[in-house]
Amino acid sequence: MQTLFINIKELLQIREVEIDKISGTDMAILPKIDNAYLLIENNIISDFGSMEYCPKLSDVEIIDATGQVILPTWVDSHTHIVYAGNRIQEFVDRINGLSYEEIANRGGGILNSAKKLNETSEDEIYEQSKLRLEEVMQQGTGAVEIKSGYGLTVEGELKMLRVIKRLKENYPIAIKATFLGAHAFPMEYKENHSAYIDLIIDEMLPKIASENLADYIDAFLETGYFSVEETIKIMEAGRKYGLEPKIHVNQFTAIDGIKACVENGALSVDHLEIVTDEDIEVLKNSKTMPVALPSCSYFISIPYTPARKMMNAGLPLALATDYNPGTTPSGNMNFVVATACIKMKMTPEEAINAATINGAYAMGISKTHGSITKGKKANLIITKPIMSFYQLPYAFGTNLIDKVMIEGKFI
Ligand code: NIG
Ligand code: FE
Repeated sequence: MQTLFINIKELLQIREVEIDKISGTDMAILPKIDNAYLLIENNIISDFGSMEYCPKLSDVEIIDATGQVILPTWVDSHTHIVYAGNRIQEFVDRINGLSYEEIANRGGGILNSAKKLNETSEDEIYEQSKLRLEEVMQQGTGAVEIKSGYGLTVEGELKMLRVIKRLKENYPIAIKATFLGAHAFPMEYKENHSAYIDLIIDEMLPKIASENLADYIDAFLETGYFSVEETIKIMEAGRKYGLEPKIHVNQFTAIDGIKACVENGALSVDHLEIVTDEDIEVLKNSKTMPVALPSCSYFISIPYTPARKMMNAGLPLALATDYNPGTTPSGNMNFVVATACIKMKMTPEEAINAATINGAYAMGISKTHGSITKGKKANLIITKPIMSFYQLPYAFGTNLIDKVMIEGKFI
């Protein structure tokens, strides 16, 4: 089965040669073809180019995309979309003056979500979470990483990861599962951290590995959460089961966590609202992708990741949503891209590179996702008729997506 898009106003993020990520200094360039065609065959991108060279094919479905822009779907490499209930009350408490830290200290925050999750059945969590997955697919996301971390018990963590597995089985979108047992210390382990670390390493990890439920391992490396030493233990234990680290770090404080992550071969370090010059030096020439989460900065009013400084130093950067009930109850990558432009001073070209190919790298799928390249999955955003792709971040509150194609099918 073949589908041919013709008269595409701008075909974005075309990469003739397969690449896995783009460095900060090259992110300013977003290769595109004006007035283009794009051919899909068996759900894979099979050809593209200028309309002048559009092949004459018979027995093909032709879609006229006059005035429309086509780009690869967003790759959201950091989410927590599997959760139970919501944290609306904490949102109102913050408006009334409490900080995220104060709410967490009185048993709210992550522990509040963990309580709800452990009280909710696996089927009910699946039903709630699939609505969020369907929502983000409509918003142009074609691949998503999902973390556990609201169980914090053996059964709770397994329950979350089983829900992620069911989502993987039932939806066409690429999903990677990350085990985040080290998200917060449950109340009963507040004074006995090592017992909770042992529970993660000796009980959770072996069960998760035996059911093949996780692709990556994560920890919340932060003052008041998991220390550098505790996180190193978690990363080392994960490695024994073949789980590469993707770590929450430098959200509120810089405590040399990035160095530990890089030394332990982390695929990504995520959040990075607070970044020191030493952190930047450590990330240079490493395989670790820095990931910024601007919707989180927006929602809980904390600094934005210093993207310009990092990219000027040559570092690549990825953008993701962090969709979760506490710090980012939104999975809209269009908003992330716009906010990166407006608040982090990334150009539209840089933001789109960060939200596609660099996101794909941060979830280990850049061979199949993140660019318009022959042989990659036919995952496409087809916009409404617009002036140019600059209109996407410019009109930040408007839905400019006409259709989304995932693995060759319109959703
Ligand atoms: O990425 N920072 C740690 N974890 C999540 C938020 C957790 C929560 O508040 O539920 C985050 O922001
Ligand atoms: Fe997160």
